[in-house]
Amino acid sequence: MPRLIEGEDTASSSLDEAIHAIDSTGFDPREEGSLMHTARWLRRLGNNAAFLGDHIVAQLTAGSACEVAESAYGAQAIVLSGMRNGFFLRANIWPSERDHAFHTSGARSFVYGIPHDHNFDFLTVGYFGPGYRSDYYEYDYEAVTGRCGEKAGLRFTERSALSPGKLMHYRAHHDVHRQLPPESLSVSLNVVAADPAAGWFDQYGFDVETDTITGVLNPTSTEVFLRLAVGLGGAEAVDLAERFGRTHPSDRLRLACFEAKATLAAAPASVDAVWREAELCGSRLVAEEARSRRRILSLPA
Ligand SMILES: [Fe+2]
Repeated sequence: MPRLIEGEDTASSSLDEAIHAIDSTGFDPREEGSLMHTARWLRRLGNNAAFLGDHIVAQLTAGSACEVAESAYGAQAIVLSGMRNGFFLRANIWPSERDHAFHTSGARSFVYGIPHDHNFDFLTVGYFGPGYRSDYYEYDYEAVTGRCGEKAGLRFTERSALSPGKLMHYRAHHDVHRQLPPESLSVSLNVVAADPAAGWFDQYGFDVETDTITGVLNPTSTEVFLRLAVGLGGAEAVDLAERFGRTHPSDRLRLACFEAKATLAAAPASVDAVWREAELCGSRLVAEEARSRRRILSLPA
């Protein structure tokens, strides 16, 4: 399970104080000192029972005149600070099964019941309510290639709730959880590590019953644009797919290049030729996917 960070600090801080204190040193979760400093200020912010309500009222009062930070997480997340010095702060809202939002948006909107890891580190503290519950697992990221259907080697650790004041470090590519709705509406606060390179590393979905990877949950816009450009048939796009397919540092982008080329190659023999080349490209992920695609094609030798 994520690393539990215990502390007796009963001091409380304002949002501005917490942001400035973390900003003054930056957040690097690989450094124990940085992790503990950030955890201390997140705990102090969590001890301030009034700040979030005040912040929401201020935002609502300011309306469109107020500059609200963009959030990729939708209405479930309230961004509390812009990205700075390796982190951003946010609050997450977790509705219970009895709440209106749960019924109108559905469990999946809140990632309930979808086992996943994270491609970023974050610190979290229970702020309000009994807290979402999670089944926690761990796995070895380096031991998997990321192929859909691949055995993940998940190790169950426990089921527990993010109760008020409980502060944990979710470790990128290590901790896996399946979240369950809290008994009643709950809120958690996060300091999220903002690593510009994180987008190139996979966040996986898992099937905990079969102990397998079900897919990548964070497709990059580069992959999408590349598939689109190749699909439109431009010679330069195909050249780029050839080059990236052979040499790009991201295995996923390399796989996307071969998939795009296979889509263009209509005849089964041509498709097979694309995947035969992919099998020999030197990437474990691409080679395993290529073998699987060729098995499905099953062309006579
Ligand atoms: Fe999560």
